[in-house]
Amino acid sequence: MKLTSRKFDALIIGAGGGGLRAALQLAQGDASVAVVSKVFPTRSHTVAAQGGVNAALANVTEDNWHWHMFDTIKGSDYLGDQDAIEYMCRAASRVVYELEHSGVPFSRLESGKIYQRAFGGQSRNFGGEQATRTCAAADRTGHAILHSLYQQNIRAKTHFFDEYFAIDLIIDKQGYVLGAVVMEIESGEILVIEAKATLIATGGAGQIYRTTTNALINTGDGMAMALRANIPLQDMEFFQFHPTGIAGKGMLITEGVRGEGGYLVNADNERFMERYAPKAKDLASRDVVSRAISIEVREGRGCGPEKDHVMLKIDHLGSEVIKKRLPGIRDTSMTFLKIDPILNPIPVYPTAHYTMGGIPTNRYGQVVIPVRDTPEEAVPGLYAAGECACVSVHGANRLGGNSLLDILVFGRAAANHIIQFLAETRYHRPLEESCVEQALQRVARWDKKGSGESVNQIKDELKRVMEAHCGVFRVDDVLREGVKKVEALAIRLQDAVIKDHSKIFNTARIEAMELENLMDIAKATVVSAQARTESRGAHSRIDFTERDDKHWLKHSLYFIDGHLDYKPVRTKPITVESFPPKARIY
Ligand code: FUM
Repeated sequence: MKLTSRKFDALIIGAGGGGLRAALQLAQGDASVAVVSKVFPTRSHTVAAQGGVNAALANVTEDNWHWHMFDTIKGSDYLGDQDAIEYMCRAASRVVYELEHSGVPFSRLESGKIYQRAFGGQSRNFGGEQATRTCAAADRTGHAILHSLYQQNIRAKTHFFDEYFAIDLIIDKQGYVLGAVVMEIESGEILVIEAKATLIATGGAGQIYRTTTNALINTGDGMAMALRANIPLQDMEFFQFHPTGIAGKGMLITEGVRGEGGYLVNADNERFMERYAPKAKDLASRDVVSRAISIEVREGRGCGPEKDHVMLKIDHLGSEVIKKRLPGIRDTSMTFLKIDPILNPIPVYPTAHYTMGGIPTNRYGQVVIPVRDTPEEAVPGLYAAGECACVSVHGANRLGGNSLLDILVFGRAAANHIIQFLAETRYHRPLEESCVEQALQRVARWDKKGSGESVNQIKDELKRVMEAHCGVFRVDDVLREGVKKVEALAIRLQDAVIKDHSKIFNTARIEAMELENLMDIAKATVVSAQARTESRGAHSRIDFTERDDKHWLKHSLYFIDGHLDYKPVRTKPITVESFPPKARIY
């Protein structure tokens, strides 16, 4: 079959903040760059990031990157790699100022400096008083960043393939990544994009859960693509539940609400976080607050007729602060609940938010896999950055405000490494037809007609299984049953059919391929969770309540055939002393 093919120096899959930051760096470095995105770029999920991006600018309270580094390591429950964390926290101020200079409309302090608010898990002086580290554009920070990055990319002449779905990586027999096979969603046309370097920046996989802050597009496409290329996924058992999703619906109510002085109450109108985190209270780290809310509800102190949520109170902040600093969450609350938070509290409950695990990378964005006799080796021509990657700066629990930072720092770092790689790589490697076979078969499989189950039915069940079997609290028998249920759903998916074979817009085919991706990610998550017999960060086991550094201070690696392996945590930073594991108290 004759396929249309295009050649670029670099291919970036995903047009969120990570992809666009990398694309900008490359385009400004005179590389020819293609960005493939299944939605119009400014609809990528970065647009939904609300509260802000962490950088120790010290505009409000004294601060420095080393304190930020300590907080991030403690927040990660010591599973984060300390070299990558040092790199990220050191680079934070620089990437924020770059954004400021490229037009991001940050909120301002009286002094004219960038506005910063307090977020969870932030401290001064290695665990002291609350820090104020999160740089914000009201509560629409991701929106502001994504639009500025997109505009800068247009100026830099990045080539966009808007509304193209990435089907699979192209890999030759020697293991070099040569680009990707993609499909134009409107026409169903297949396109081969050849590139000397390919960066996966496809975001997370929150759609494995029923209640989530994540957009419908967050189906873990890049992570699943890596798995199919025999690249393991790292630390998939660590999935973050954001404490304050709208109860029963899941939309995000930013942590910035608590940063501005909002607080949680139970049915007795008690500020219950004082019991769980006497010092940090509502600004404890997310895993701590999510568990506290779940316990309050489980022990009968939930609010509402079903006693199934708690309340987030902000009416005491006054309408001026709410309208100026939190207009987005007021809008969300009024739209979805008909509640004006200036007057009444918002019903909230933990909701699936962030995939801490992902494609293993080093701090240059290179995808690295363990190889016998050597600790790890880079996959030639392949990079990953942002939520789909696991570098690992978040370890077992990410701090709020560190995800925007991660995409900016490591999008930029990956691009810088790609620029070096391009300098040494003058020509595209030859592409044999057999290299695109797997991708073509993936598409053709969904042309099959028949009377099988619908894709949507299976997707709905998958999300319910994950919610019931792999949520905030976990226990062995429930996890085991979860593994079996996901495996059974994966088998049913092999016989599923799509009901609408219209080639126009191809939405049914895309949804089917997205579900294949979600299935692989869900299995990776629940299998890895069942195997880790300790509690660490967001992975909280009722049957193994303690952190067990002796046996479990290590990263998990999940392979497509379902087996697990482990690799050590990089506990050595680049220039400073390492932070050894300690009890994690807020
Ligand atoms: O609460 C929030 O605004 C979310 C921020 C984040 O996940 O970093």
